[in-house]
Amino acid sequence: ATKGKLLILPGDGIGIEVMREVRRVIDWLSKKRGIDFAIEEALVGGSSIDAYGKPITDETMKIALEADAVLLGAVGGPKWDNLPFEVKPERGLLRLRKDLGLFANLRPAMCFDALVEASTLKPDVVRGLDIMIVRELTGGVYFGTPRGIETLPDGSRRGVNTQVYTTEEIRRVARVAFDIATKRNNKVTSSEKANVMESGILWREEVTHIHDTEFPKVELSHMYADNCAMQLVRNPKQFDVIVTDNLFGDILSDCAAMLTGSLGMLPSASLGAADANGKRKAMYEPVHGSAPDIAGKDLANPIATILSFAMALRYSFDLGEEAALIEKAVENVLAGGLRTGDIMQPGMAKVSTGVMGESIVRALDKLAA
Ligand code: NAD
Ligand code: IPM
Ligand code: MN
Repeated sequence: ATKGKLLILPGDGIGIEVMREVRRVIDWLSKKRGIDFAIEEALVGGSSIDAYGKPITDETMKIALEADAVLLGAVGGPKWDNLPFEVKPERGLLRLRKDLGLFANLRPAMCFDALVEASTLKPDVVRGLDIMIVRELTGGVYFGTPRGIETLPDGSRRGVNTQVYTTEEIRRVARVAFDIATKRNNKVTSSEKANVMESGILWREEVTHIHDTEFPKVELSHMYADNCAMQLVRNPKQFDVIVTDNLFGDILSDCAAMLTGSLGMLPSASLGAADANGKRKAMYEPVHGSAPDIAGKDLANPIATILSFAMALRYSFDLGEEAALIEKAVENVLAGGLRTGDIMQPGMAKVSTGVMGESIVRALDKLAA
């Protein structure tokens, strides 16, 4: 029997390279622990455009809807940058998020001890860092209407996007954030710009409402998003859970990535609503993109994607023990001094994507021995 259905979507650029390393970990689980998944692999993004003329096909969407978890590499690249908006690679990713209803994007930023010196920030600022950004993922300016580019009577053009949030959209993501906080350090910082946006005022009111009525014991504070960006680099350890909208969450999580040493270290989980059995639709992906500047060179750091797979084991397959094993293996490899270029430090050994993946599997072997 398998543990469930897993759809693997490597995507484009380094997405393909880092997913190869996740495959090694999957093979290890099968061979050494007898843990198997019913795996399907399909195209998304530019690779799907090249094969089918669209960033994701209805058939792949159907498999995704039936899967217990989707694991995605990254999409996009210069080759497809000038395509019409509706058929760009990124639309495939956005359709997956929207059609699967993945409204809560969990982006944990943890600084491994071995990487304290790899961050561009001072060691004391990041040592022991462990924060969770909960980003709303299916609303806001990413999906709001009206949107588009229109030509005005005088021939000039106008680009329009709309930031819009409903009560329920805010409440459901707030609940996820508060619930996570109860399993961590009981602190939530909600971030918006209520000083300039009505959607921000509603955000603040609804988050406060969920706090007061359902999670009064969690400590809640509010912070404008610009200040939050500044505080993330000034003193990131003041945070436990940050809950924020789609666009601010996108920006704040890239910012938080650098606290861990590299964008190549940050995993994520995107979750939908729980069904009657408590099961949530889910997709797991690194926070980084397809990195066209290093794609095809065996330079990418596969750790963000391997840690995303570990999150899948924990959240979708009830395999928390194996997830912890993978996280420990990553920690041991880093402690042993192996580094991909993005986290390279003086005196460490610079390795390729493939060697990093192999080494993590060897560390798993040692841990399981
Ligand atoms: P990016 O995240 O791809 O790269 C930003 C920088 O970080 C680059 O210098 C890159 O080399 C480096 N980097 C990222 N991941 C790395 C890794 N694992 N190891 C080592 N270095 C890494 O962002 P970008 O350059 O702004 O975007 C490139 C393309 O990726 C665009 O088409 C964009 O739309 C897309 N994108 C996709 C996703 C996704 O699929 N989830 C996320 C972000 C960007
Ligand atoms: C991310 C990416 C995506 C986003 C893009 C590629 C659509 O930046 O996952 O962080 O903006 O959400
Ligand atoms: Mn992003």
